[in-house]
Amino acid sequence: MMSFGEDRIIRKSPEEIEKMRRSGKMVRQVLNHLKGIVAAGVTTMDLEKAAEKLIAELGAAPAFKGYYGYPCVLCTSINEEIVHGIPSEKRALKTGDIVSIDCGVVCDGYYGDAAITVPVGDELAAELKKLLEVTEASLYKGIAQAKIGNTVGHVGSAIQKHVEANGFSVVREFVGHGIGTKLHEAPQIPNFGKKGQGAELTEGMVLAIEPMVNSGRPETKVLSDKWTAVTLDGSYSAHFEHCVAVTRQGPVILTQ
Ligand code: MF3
Ligand code: CO
Repeated sequence: MMSFGEDRIIRKSPEEIEKMRRSGKMVRQVLNHLKGIVAAGVTTMDLEKAAEKLIAELGAAPAFKGYYGYPCVLCTSINEEIVHGIPSEKRALKTGDIVSIDCGVVCDGYYGDAAITVPVGDELAAELKKLLEVTEASLYKGIAQAKIGNTVGHVGSAIQKHVEANGFSVVREFVGHGIGTKLHEAPQIPNFGKKGQGAELTEGMVLAIEPMVNSGRPETKVLSDKWTAVTLDGSYSAHFEHCVAVTRQGPVILTQ
């Protein structure tokens, strides 16, 4: 995410969380559909077009298009691209690539935001398979910490520990975020930190938790298109994201 105009944390009622679950479900439908389309020769613009069509059919609106001038409904980030890759008809997927697909929608005033990273073809290098597995598992480690009484730091610490124990690194320059009637709300959710750091998690908070994990060093740079974030060392990067409500029953994933 980028910047916040407001640093107040907005807690959601059960009714609002239900609306966010509906938006979250739509995002998941889009991601599941796109996962089935990913193949060698498919372009990231093919994915964009399919997403745009399905979001309209679902009766929602895309969340990213026009956000700070972002041109598309998806972010599609291939291999060393971390996040915010812009779909292009010039970029065809190749067997052995990994592609992160990030999608957001808004429906009835409430946002949903989720991302997956998928292999292209079925001959993924063992190291990349491990990168995807570790990144997704780190997301679930973070989600498990999204409990009343914990802090933002509990979430980041759990993610960072799992990633680093497996020899990979977490990106520092891009972070998760609160979400609700805006795509990005307070608090920021870093994928690193220590238990006890940052805001305390309280009932009704909704967090977009989104580890970005590099196979090499953590440093990043943004390309001249002003959006695409890549690893500085050219290593591969994976990204998974869920929206999670903090409830008295524990963490509830809204983007299922
Ligand atoms: N999931 C990403 C984020 O929260 C996607 C934002 S892309 C943008 O930052 F174009 F909308 F900025
Ligand atoms: Co997000």
